[in-house]
Amino acid sequence: QDIIAIVPAAGIGSRMKADKPKQYLMLGNQPIIAHTLDCLLTHPKIQKVIVALHLKDDYFSQLKQAKHPKLLQVNGGDERADSVLAGLKLISGNQWALVHDAARPCLTHQDIDALIASQIQHPQGAILAMPVRDTMKRSDKHGNILATVERELLWHALTPQLFRADELKNNIEQAIAQGVVITDEASAMEWAGVTPGLINGRADNIKVTHPDDLALAALFLSHSID
Ligand code: C5P
Repeated sequence: QDIIAIVPAAGIGSRMKADKPKQYLMLGNQPIIAHTLDCLLTHPKIQKVIVALHLKDDYFSQLKQAKHPKLLQVNGGDERADSVLAGLKLISGNQWALVHDAARPCLTHQDIDALIASQIQHPQGAILAMPVRDTMKRSDKHGNILATVERELLWHALTPQLFRADELKNNIEQAIAQGVVITDEASAMEWAGVTPGLINGRADNIKVTHPDDLALAALFLSHSID
């Protein structure tokens, strides 16, 4: 069964307050996105890796991964969902799309394997996720607590997320057309009435978002057991 990875990497990462998009910041010996791509390109069950880049990307072509035979490039879009759609348009319908943020460089083969293994139990697709550990609060717009939210059924949605390419493409297109905000692949599937599976992922698969996250990602990479 064909599995094609799609890596949305067209964001500008404004929360990072850096001089270049966050996926190109150095993490150890190479940029963030290079670690992400190495993990996906070396996975034996992933046939191709499609990376969605910003129209004015000046950095990608300098990476050694850019010339990898498994790698394809496509122009991303204004929102993350547009970038994922651009990648999906290169895939034929009956393949599986494994979508993973460029900004999550600590991904391991162990996590990818767990997600792929879940296809038997979750034929409609699944995502990596982590149960919420802290007590959760809902606030008003001024930072005052309105309520404590029951924690038992809450999860952090991570990536990769794995769905049939044709279904994911149709659902993202239709959800966008209806004005629904799509922040991950599962939300487009949920909107279409599908109930994707939640697969326990590793806690070190963080998304580099704020400057502090870089040090944490470097620590996780240096301790990686995979
Ligand atoms: O900004 P955020 O951290 O949510 O972005 C998640 C991933 O989506 C990043 O890898 C980013 O490069 C990508 N993205 C994209 N196209 C956009 C916005 C974000 O590919 N228009």
